[in-house]
Amino acid sequence: MSLYPHSRPRRLRTTPAVRRLVAETRIDPAGLVLPMFVREGIDAPQPIASMPGVLQHTRDSLKRAAVEAVEAGVGGLMLFGVPAERDATGSAAVCETGILNVGIADLVAEVGDATVVMSDGCLDEFTDHGHCGVLDGHGRVDNDATLEVYAAMAVAQAAAGAHMIGPSGMMDGQIGVMREALDAAGHDDVSLIAYSAKYASALYGPFREAVDSQLKGDRRTYQQDPANGREAMRELELDIAEGADIVMIKPASTYLDVIRDARQATDLPVAAYQVSGEYAMIEAAAANGWIDRDRLIDEQLTAIHRAGASIILTYYAVEVANRLRVRA
Ligand code: PBG
Repeated sequence: MSLYPHSRPRRLRTTPAVRRLVAETRIDPAGLVLPMFVREGIDAPQPIASMPGVLQHTRDSLKRAAVEAVEAGVGGLMLFGVPAERDATGSAAVCETGILNVGIADLVAEVGDATVVMSDGCLDEFTDHGHCGVLDGHGRVDNDATLEVYAAMAVAQAAAGAHMIGPSGMMDGQIGVMREALDAAGHDDVSLIAYSAKYASALYGPFREAVDSQLKGDRRTYQQDPANGREAMRELELDIAEGADIVMIKPASTYLDVIRDARQATDLPVAAYQVSGEYAMIEAAAANGWIDRDRLIDEQLTAIHRAGASIILTYYAVEVANRLRVRA
C-alpha cells in the first residue's frame, strides 16, 4: 500500500484523451524549420546516402519542395548552397549569381512571406579547403579576415531577399559585424538567428556529404568543445550584446542542458538544430527494424522542445508537420 493513497499521478495517464489534455509540451509546425540544400550544376535532385529521404535540390525541385513545406505549415526554411566551383576565399558566397544567393531569390519569389526564408551565413560550403573562414599564411582560420567576408555575404543574402540569416561559422564577433553591415546597407529588417553555441560534433558527418565538404581535419579551433556548458553562456551573452535576434544551440539532443541554460539566461527566442547525424542515427536504426521510427522522432523533438527550444531546425519538419495536421 502506498504511503500517500490519495496521490496517484497515474490517474492523469489513464486514457489518450487525458494524456493529451495534460501534456506540458506540444510540437507545433509553426516552430519547425526545414534545412534544405540547393546544388549548382545538376539537372535532377540527388539523394544523400547518409541522409535517406533528404535531397540536394535543383533550383526547380527546391521551389517545389518549398511549396510543399509551406503547405504543411512549417515555420521556416534554412537554405544551404552547394557550389560547382570553390576557391580559397569562398567568393561564390558573396557573388550575386552564387548558388546560395540565387536559391534564396528563388525561394522568396516562390513562397514570398508565407514562411521565413533563412540562409546559412557561413563559408565552409564555398571554400576549397572546407573551413568556415579564410586561412592565414600558416593555414589557420583568420578570424577578422573572415568577418569581412561574412559582412559581404550577409549583405548579398539580404539583397537576394533572405528574411533571416544564420551565421554558423563560430567566428568571434560575427553577429556584430553582420548586423552593422546589414544596417549600413539598409537591411535593418533582416534578422540574425545566431548559432550561439555550436559544438565541434561528430554528428555533422552526414551534412558534410550533403554539401560535398572539402574539409580535412576538424573545426575545433572555432567550434566549441563538447565538454563545456558554461562557455556556451559566454557565447550567448556576446551574441545577444552584438544584436542577435534569436539564439540557437547545435546539435540538439546531446546538448539539452545547454538549451535549458539558454532558455533561463535570455528572453529571446531559443532555437535548436537537430542535425544530420541525429537524423541519420534514427534512420539507420529504423532501417534495421531496431526502433519505432515515428515514436522516436516525436520523442526527440518533444525532448528538445521541453528543454526550452521553441524553434527546432529539423530535416523532419515537413513530415512531422503533416503528421500533426492529420492528427488535429
Ligand atoms: C557549417 C554547418 C554545418 C552544419 C550546419 N552548418 C557543419 C559543420 O559545422 O561542419 C551541420 C548541420 C547538420 O549536420 O545537419 N556551416
